Amino acid sequence: MKAIVITQPGGPEVLQLTDRPKPVIANDEVLIKVMAAGINRPDVFQRKGNYPPPAGAPADIPGLDVAGTVIEVGKAVTRWKPGDRVCALVASGGYAEYCKAPDGQCLPVPASLSFPEAASLPETFFTVWSNVFDRGSLQPGESLLVHGGSSGIGVAAIQMAKALGSTVYTTAGSDDKCSFCEQLGANKAINYKTADFKEGIKALTNGAGVNVILDMIGGDYMPGNIDSLAVEGRLVMINAMNGREVQLDLGKVMAKRLIITGSMLRSRNTAFKAAIAQNLEQKIWPLLSSGKIRPIVYKTFDAGEAAEAHKLMESSTHTGKIVLTFVQ
Ligand SMILES: NC(=O)c1ccc[n+]([C@@H]2O[C@H](COP(=O)([O-])OP(=O)(O)OC[C@H]3O[C@@H](n4cnc5c(N)ncnc54)[C@H](OP(=O)(O)O)[C@@H]3O)[C@@H](O)[C@H]2O)c1
Repeated sequence: MKAIVITQPGGPEVLQLTDRPKPVIANDEVLIKVMAAGINRPDVFQRKGNYPPPAGAPADIPGLDVAGTVIEVGKAVTRWKPGDRVCALVASGGYAEYCKAPDGQCLPVPASLSFPEAASLPETFFTVWSNVFDRGSLQPGESLLVHGGSSGIGVAAIQMAKALGSTVYTTAGSDDKCSFCEQLGANKAINYKTADFKEGIKALTNGAGVNVILDMIGGDYMPGNIDSLAVEGRLVMINAMNGREVQLDLGKVMAKRLIITGSMLRSRNTAFKAAIAQNLEQKIWPLLSSGKIRPIVYKTFDAGEAAEAHKLMESSTHTGKIVLTFVQ
């Protein structure tokens, strides 16, 4: 099969279209003929050599989510059969013509969605569900601040939280990105390059703060995050792009009884991911079918143009997801 391989750690040019053997499935896995693969920021970190996949996952083929047609199922798989249209969360190996996935990490492609749209969903939707709703316990009627609202993660978080009854605030790096986030459903987007998000949240919540913050920035955002949380607020970290070591006023954590937590999805086991898949299918997939939540595909690239797709992601000029497509 053709696969996009990281030939060595480095810039986008190290991604090369190469021949590789087709994956061999285990009893609880399916083999997917990949029509589209999502691009996620962790793929960029993996390409640079900073984010190795867990043991057993392809070390040099990036790609955390795919959509396509099931062509083979393991002996223990009862849910799926050849011909089914699925999208799947995988630990690596998505940038390839064929990809294997544990059966519990597959979800049906809603009839109204294309393969590129479906491929844009798993990594971000699993991550948002796990961190905002499970770890962060966001409840209907509560408020969420999501940093990086125009990112792949951001567009999922804004739509899911809004659809499930929360007030959603977000930050983004330009006025155009802020308008995009508000059109998507955010109650208010703050351009963090021209305004202090802490002051913005204070004004928007009459000083009360928000119940949950989803943050991938870290670093110098920490003091502002702590000040922007309401009493009993929850801060959920999914990356620290501005730095892992932070300044933290523990007095404020105690006074407001805050919870600071975080997680990484990729290293979790199949049972953990399958449980998220069940929640998504029950609570979010009907909203995708009805059109209340939309996949946001900013641009698609042919698989051979993976380097261009990574360049676009690193430019941070995109809004939503970038997707690779495979010519059949
Ligand atoms: N923990 C997990 O399990 C998990 C899973 C998936 C993703 N993630 C993390 O979630 C984040 C978003 O992923 P994604 O795929 O949605 O990425 P993405 O679409 O590339 O979005 C990242 C956005 O973050 C903003 N940003 C702010 N500060 C930045 C900085 N210092 N460096 C780069 N970008 C910065 C940029 O928008 P502005 O113009 O608004 O600044 C950029 O568009 C990534 O950090 C990723 O590693 C974590």
